[in-house]
Amino acid sequence: TYVVALPCVDVKDRACVDECPVDCIYEGERSLYIHPDECVDCGACEPVCPVEAIYYEDDLPEAWADYYRANVDFFVELGSPGGAAKTGVLTFDHPVIAGLSRQVA
Ligand code: F3S
Ligand code: F3S
Repeated sequence: TYVVALPCVDVKDRACVDECPVDCIYEGERSLYIHPDECVDCGACEPVCPVEAIYYEDDLPEAWADYYRANVDFFVELGSPGGAAKTGVLTFDHPVIAGLSRQVA
């Protein structure tokens, strides 16, 4: 799967959402999250993110290793909705993201 990491937090450019052929990039309050089971690893999202927040799981920088679990665990209660358009903007974040101080002024 691909993973959305720290640079997305409080930026949420959303260019990635338009590229994803399976609509598996879900929007939380402060970040977006890639559904690990719905993502088909097409890689289309990675180059379009203006802040380079998206990585293939094996290429995730060590400093952001927590973001693999943050993306996966974000969906523990949501399950597999089958498309971000169905959930809309969710009003919560994974604790790793929720606990961060504000990332942009
Ligand atoms: Fe975030 Fe980049 Fe997508 S900032 S919303 S991962 S385009
Ligand atoms: Fe979508 Fe990116 Fe996966 S475009 S299918 S989230 S690699």
